[in-house]
Amino acid sequence: MILAIETSCDETAAAVYDTKAQRIISHHLFSQIDMQRIYGGVVPEIASRSHLEKIQSIVAHTLQQAGIESNELTAVAVTSKPGLAGALLVGFSFAKAIAWTHNIPFIPVNHLDGHVFSSHLEDDGSFRQLLYPHLTLTASGGHTSLYRVTGFGQHEEIGHTLDDAAGEAFDKTARLIGFVYPGGPKIEKLATENNFADVFKYPRNKTKPGKYTFSFSGLKTAILYDLAKRGYIDLATSKPTEKLTAQVQKNVASSLLVCVGDIFEKMLVRVFKEQPDLQGFAFVGGVACNEYLRKRLAAACKKRTKFFAASPKKFSTDNGAMIALVGSYLLKTGQVGTMESDIFE
Ligand code: KG4
Ligand code: ZN
Repeated sequence: MILAIETSCDETAAAVYDTKAQRIISHHLFSQIDMQRIYGGVVPEIASRSHLEKIQSIVAHTLQQAGIESNELTAVAVTSKPGLAGALLVGFSFAKAIAWTHNIPFIPVNHLDGHVFSSHLEDDGSFRQLLYPHLTLTASGGHTSLYRVTGFGQHEEIGHTLDDAAGEAFDKTARLIGFVYPGGPKIEKLATENNFADVFKYPRNKTKPGKYTFSFSGLKTAILYDLAKRGYIDLATSKPTEKLTAQVQKNVASSLLVCVGDIFEKMLVRVFKEQPDLQGFAFVGGVACNEYLRKRLAAACKKRTKFFAASPKKFSTDNGAMIALVGSYLLKTGQVGTMESDIFE
C-alpha cells in the first residue's frame, strides 16, 4: 500500500495505491480554487498556509477511505519539482515524517511524470496498459510538453512551449474578457454555447521544422490587440469596455478554443508523420478536461488508426493518484529517495 501526497500548487491531495491489486483504492483532495479566485491566480504564501491547514485531515481521510492504518503502508510517495517551493515543502515534510516514523521507503515523484503517466489510470483507479511507443501531450496551467513514451515509467521529452502554457492562454484570455480563474472551464462552456464558431481567426503559431515547440504568449497578445482594435478592451487599463457584450465573450471563447484545437491537432499529425512507429496518443493535464479538444484529437487519431487515451477528468488536474502510480513504478525499480532528498532534486 503506497500513500501519495501532492501539494505542488493549489490542491492538497492524497491517494492510496494497492500495489497487489494495481489500483487506486482511495483518493481525496481539497482545492483552494475558491480561496485563490479573488486574487486572480495562485498566491504562493496562501497556498502554503492552506496546505499546512489541510494536509493532516486529507491524509487521514484518504487512509480511512482505504480502510487502512498508517502502519500498513509500505511506502510514501510525494510530489517533488516542479511546483511552488513553499507548497512542495509542506507535502515533502509531511511525507518524510510518515516514512521516518514507519521506517518505509520515501519516494519523491516528479510532478510532470505524474501527469504523463496519469494516462495509465482508468476511471475506477485501476492500472491501464497502453501500447508503446506513444505520444503524450501534457497541457496544464503551468506546462505544455510533448513526450515520447516507450514504456510505463519511461519517457523522453521531445517538445515543449517556449513561453506560456496552453492553460495560461485560457486563463489569461478569460481574465481579459472578465472571468475569474480558472478560465479553461468557462472558455469551454461559452465556446460550446457558440457552437465552436471561429469568428476572429486568431493566429496559429508556426512550428519550426525539426523542433516540436509551442508558443502561447503571442496568441494571448494577439487576442489583446485584436480586442482593443475592435473597441472591446481599453488598452491602457486592459479592462473590458461596455462594447464587450456576452456575445462577444462567446465569440472570443470559441475562436480561442478552435485555435488551440488547430495548434494541437497540427502538432499531433506532424509528430505521427515524423515518428511513424508511434502507436497512439495520450492527452493529460488540466486542459485535457476539455471535451472539444478530446473529441478533435481522438478523431485525428482514429483517422490514422492510432489509439487515443485521455487521463480520466478527476485525474487530469492535480491529484494524488498520478503521484501514487508513478511512486509504485519507482518503488518497483528501486528509485527511492532518502531523508536528505530535496524538493528540487
Ligand atoms: O493540471 P492543472 O490542475 O494544474 C497545473 O498543474 O497547472 O491544470 C489547470 C489548468 C488551468 O489553466 C485551467 O484553466 C485548465 O487546466 N483547464 C481547462 C479545463 N479545465 C481546466 N482548460 C480547458 N478546458 C477545460 N475544460
Ligand atoms: Zn499539474
